[in-house]
Amino acid sequence: MKIAVMYISKTGSTQLCAEYIASKLQDCSLFDLDREIPCLSDFDVLLIGSGVRMGKIYKPAKQVLNDNIETLIAKKTIIFLCNFYPETIQKTIRNSIPNRLINHAKIIKCGGISPFSKPTNTEWLNCTEINEVLTAFCLM
Ligand SMILES: Cc1cc2nc3c(=O)[nH]c(=O)nc-3n(C[C@H](O)[C@H](O)[C@H](O)COP(=O)(O)O)c2cc1C
Repeated sequence: MKIAVMYISKTGSTQLCAEYIASKLQDCSLFDLDREIPCLSDFDVLLIGSGVRMGKIYKPAKQVLNDNIETLIAKKTIIFLCNFYPETIQKTIRNSIPNRLINHAKIIKCGGISPFSKPTNTEWLNCTEINEVLTAFCLM
């Protein structure tokens, strides 16, 4: 089973989250969407992560989601989000993720760090939910 973990991060928390996820998987390829967008068809499982600013996920993640809806719907897809204000995340999901993907993909709310800070530890990371989803998808 080929797994891609893609992420886009501005202050490092989504990157840390992606690295945590990758460390839990037997074998996967990790992609920083700022540098490389892989060919999604090459993979069986797709994980796409983004931070949130002003109620929106970051542009490269939004573009990958919008440009590949059919491919993503045909595969196992997990979207993982890092944000600081948990009460606003549903609105962000509604505004940033196409409806068909909201219905198909599993979306993990991973927690996040306060605006403009850098992650100095992983205490904020919602490891329980991440591990539950990876287990449910038979990935760990
Ligand atoms: C300018 C700015 C705007 C932000 N807007 C939001 C927001 O609308 N909702 C939210 O929950 N968090 C918001 N945050 C917090 C980030 O989502 C949080 O720090 C996240 O962990 C950043 O992910 P990253 O380190 O991968 O870039 C904002 C942070 C900054 C710096």
